[in-house]
Amino acid sequence: MPRTYSRRAGSTPRRHAPAKPADATAAKTRKKKSDEKEELAANASEVVEDAEKKVDAEVTASASEKKDAPEKKEKPAEKEPKEKAKEKAKGKHAKEKSEKTEKIEHKTRVIAVVNHKGGVGKTTCTMDIGAGLRRYGKTVLFIDADPQGSLSLGLGIDTKGKNTLYELLKGKCRPEKAIMKTKSGVDIIAADIMLQAAEGELSNEPGRDYLLSEVVDKVKDKYDYILIDCPPALGMLTLNALVAATEALIVVKPEFYSIQGIKQLEETFNVVRKRLNKNLKVAGIVINMYDARRKQKNKEAIDAIQEMFDEHIFASSIRNTAAVAVSPSEHEDIFAYSAKEASDFDALVKEIIDMEGK
Ligand SMILES: Nc1ncnc2c1ncn2[C@@H]1O[C@H](COP(=O)(O)OP(=O)(O)OP(=O)(O)O)[C@@H](O)[C@H]1O
Ligand SMILES: [Mg+2]
Repeated sequence: MPRTYSRRAGSTPRRHAPAKPADATAAKTRKKKSDEKEELAANASEVVEDAEKKVDAEVTASASEKKDAPEKKEKPAEKEPKEKAKEKAKGKHAKEKSEKTEKIEHKTRVIAVVNHKGGVGKTTCTMDIGAGLRRYGKTVLFIDADPQGSLSLGLGIDTKGKNTLYELLKGKCRPEKAIMKTKSGVDIIAADIMLQAAEGELSNEPGRDYLLSEVVDKVKDKYDYILIDCPPALGMLTLNALVAATEALIVVKPEFYSIQGIKQLEETFNVVRKRLNKNLKVAGIVINMYDARRKQKNKEAIDAIQEMFDEHIFASSIRNTAAVAVSPSEHEDIFAYSAKEASDFDALVKEIIDMEGK
């Protein structure tokens, strides 16, 4: 489009020095030329200014266009990789999650069967829960952590000349050299009265509370479950078991004297969690030797336990039966001794398995 150029507003004509009379015509001509030049320069600068304004306007327009248009045009292109990245991340996360879940599923549950009160059925429960888990295809290791050696005796293990938990805690042999087989297919690290000596002999050992945990760490990959039968005391052996354990399982008899010590157990767990094993959980409380003829008394005791101890009580109680009492003397677990009498333990084992990964 043709443009009309005019003098810029506000531009003032230049003043020149007065010309000499002899050169008046020449001077007039020079002045005319100079005025023309000046006008051209002014017009030129106006053109430049206009052009600059135009460029500015275009840049601004293009910038604002870029603001809008690229969002319309480029966003999908940008979105795609973003979404792909998101999906990739999701996939990665899901994979990690499934790997984690698998890890939890394959994580060995190390269960310390405890109660410092004697004769409540810790050894009986250890033996029959282990056998039940084995029947459900789980790989199981028993650790007899009681110098009475009741679990080893009940399973018919002869410890004479064999490596036991004592040798392991003293560092005298490797764990695999102390693992023995039982009839039910459960492995065992046995114990006998020698274990009593370990408490005294290891009392000044640095890190003595971690000795069993070190043994467990070396063998746990081979097992789904490791069950530790604890002695009726809260000494070094029970502490070692609680440090090595992922869970504690409390066995109680539903009677007044049996439940009095439970508060002390809870305090022990708290100390262990604070100083030695922060991940220790309580799997739950097993009511053993439930007497169906004393329903009301049993119920009162169970209510009292629940009030005193804010932990899970397994729904499956173990009834007081002759079969459960006699089977160890035959070196048999309840499943092998009397399938008919094994229903309580079967139900309890199912509950324990149902907790896997939780
Ligand atoms: N459900 C049951 N029915 C009948 N008898 C049982 C039952 N549970 C355990 N007993 C018997 O009670 C006695 C004590 O059981 P067990 O040895 O398992 O207890 P414990 O808590 O391991 O004892 P300790 O504290 O001395 O190690 C044993 O004679 C055992 O056979
Ligand atoms: Mg016992």
